[in-house]
Amino acid sequence: MAEPLFLTDLVLAFLLAITGGLLGRRAGRRQAQRGEIRRRPLVLYVTAAIVAARLAVAVLLLATSGWPLVAHRLLLGLPVVVLPLVRALVRPSAVAAHTTAMGAWLSFYLLYVPPGPQDLPVAAGASALVLATTIGTSLLLGDRRSRGGRLARLPWLSGIAAAVTAMALGSLFLVSESATTDWGGGPERAGHSVHAMGHGHDAGDAPMRSVDELTGPRDGIPDARYTLTAAHGTVRLSSGRKIDALTFNGTSPGPELRVEKGQLVEVTLVNKDVTEGVTLHWHGVDVPNAEDGVPGVTQNPVRPGERHVYRFVPDRAGTYWYHTHRDSERSVERGLFGALIVEDGQQGVQQNVFTHLWPGADDQIGAFGTADSAERRAVQAGRPVVLRLINSSKEPHRILLGGAPFRVTAHDGNPIDEPGELKPGTDLFLAAGGRYDVAFTMPDDVVTLRLDTSEIPNEAGLAFSPDGRAEPAALKRGDLFDRLSYGERTGPKPEGGQAYDRDFDLVLDNGFGFSGGSFTFTDTINGRLSPAVPTLMVHEGDRVRMRITARGIIDHPMHLHGHRIRVISRNGGAVTGSTWWTDTLNVAPGESYEIDFTADNPGVWMDHCHNFEHAESGMIMHLAYDDVTTPYHGPAH
Ligand code: C2O
Ligand code: CU
Repeated sequence: MAEPLFLTDLVLAFLLAITGGLLGRRAGRRQAQRGEIRRRPLVLYVTAAIVAARLAVAVLLLATSGWPLVAHRLLLGLPVVVLPLVRALVRPSAVAAHTTAMGAWLSFYLLYVPPGPQDLPVAAGASALVLATTIGTSLLLGDRRSRGGRLARLPWLSGIAAAVTAMALGSLFLVSESATTDWGGGPERAGHSVHAMGHGHDAGDAPMRSVDELTGPRDGIPDARYTLTAAHGTVRLSSGRKIDALTFNGTSPGPELRVEKGQLVEVTLVNKDVTEGVTLHWHGVDVPNAEDGVPGVTQNPVRPGERHVYRFVPDRAGTYWYHTHRDSERSVERGLFGALIVEDGQQGVQQNVFTHLWPGADDQIGAFGTADSAERRAVQAGRPVVLRLINSSKEPHRILLGGAPFRVTAHDGNPIDEPGELKPGTDLFLAAGGRYDVAFTMPDDVVTLRLDTSEIPNEAGLAFSPDGRAEPAALKRGDLFDRLSYGERTGPKPEGGQAYDRDFDLVLDNGFGFSGGSFTFTDTINGRLSPAVPTLMVHEGDRVRMRITARGIIDHPMHLHGHRIRVISRNGGAVTGSTWWTDTLNVAPGESYEIDFTADNPGVWMDHCHNFEHAESGMIMHLAYDDVTTPYHGPAH
């Protein structure tokens, strides 16, 4: 619902800018002829109609999606044009027409370069100033009979000047440098700058700690020990297509790491020949900060010929995954990822199923792991089956499962309490980076898993049958599984607002700006791009509440490192099912989530969109503890 409304509003705002311009020109002409606008010109009515349509869109958005989705429109974006417009309608005059024109442009600007919540007061002040200037110049020049002429058109010229200036200023917030240069504006600086959000406690005289001190156990013999060697290689998909890939130990997905909760795990990363550098990030496992594998924040990238040792003790069982965090957009897509399973006692036939998009010659190739075509597997009827679905691609996937009733037993590694049986044909929407564990009992017939083809055409299909010969069935889209109401809550209810030490507002949006050196329509956090996005500052032990709202026209799977988050509500509707723990929350256009977490893992942590393309263009921010600094800098993805 929200997405078509957003698009409609973008179009309306564009049209409004045009009719506003015509109206301003008309006013300028009248003043130049030393005349006045007394009757209402047609263009004024057209402008009014467009504004009315935009108001209707805002009301619809408010009704369907809620206040966070329309706040900036109703507080600033629309008033700047509605106020002068009402004046022009009630008492038509050249001055009112000029001001309406300027208001239309401001409104356009505020929608196409939308300010984040922290910049709203500044944007409001600047808008008021621009409107006042327009009124002033229009009054001055319109009244001076002796001066008439071309000068009188100045108000609308000054409008353009103001618009250009605003555009330039606004774009400053949207400057993200390309991944290959060191941006150096690392969180260690942002944490102490005006960009920091969140006040309250102060680190005061508390001694500062470096990320480097926040390691896993340095001594002790590890219970599980692995070496992962990153190297160029070729991946052969089931269809026979070959991918020029990056591999761990010669394969992609890399080897499954299976460990026990509470055990000391040691993984040595070796980079054979990946020139961009490599790191290992343990997605979803809340490891100590120094083991988190974020180049430029917790370590330097591991260059060819170098190695790096990670040591940590996983404290929760479940389905996790590892991937490089260096040049992620290309390196993860090309294969630097694998499964990390912390034993959780689920019984039966088990299979890790990565939903992946491989970089093909012309197109992305949708696959389950390396299966981009039909694959068959024999499973004895009556046996329990557990599929660990892991989305290693940058897009969310709709996964179709037919042939047997099933249960979603875990989400992002967190068990779901009292998972109800879902009818075959219920579709799962899996966030980029997210995981679902799916369990069913093998029937006598075939069970099919497919990737929806409407977004990304693909032939991937897994068929499970007792004799292993059945072809995957053709499946149609079914009802969508809704995590909000699934399962039963057994733990305590989320507590109320007063219990929080910090409250953060994250707005995901689109806007024009400079990203990677070129002017584009890009995805922003709080109206800005990394490194200009304010760092979220916390104190150890804080209870933190965050609201994440997607005002743009695209999905953003938000991933906070180092902390497990709990979803409280979506668009005002509380979670009624099993407690919704997650580490990667897909925020779709028009959605607004309230989440909370405890700041219990000191460090400097990434909080970013797991669509690596968005991350690379600047959808990155940090969560920093007020007593931790990092000596590293450089691109963090
Ligand atoms: Cu799975 Cu910061 O990433
Ligand atoms: Cu995104």
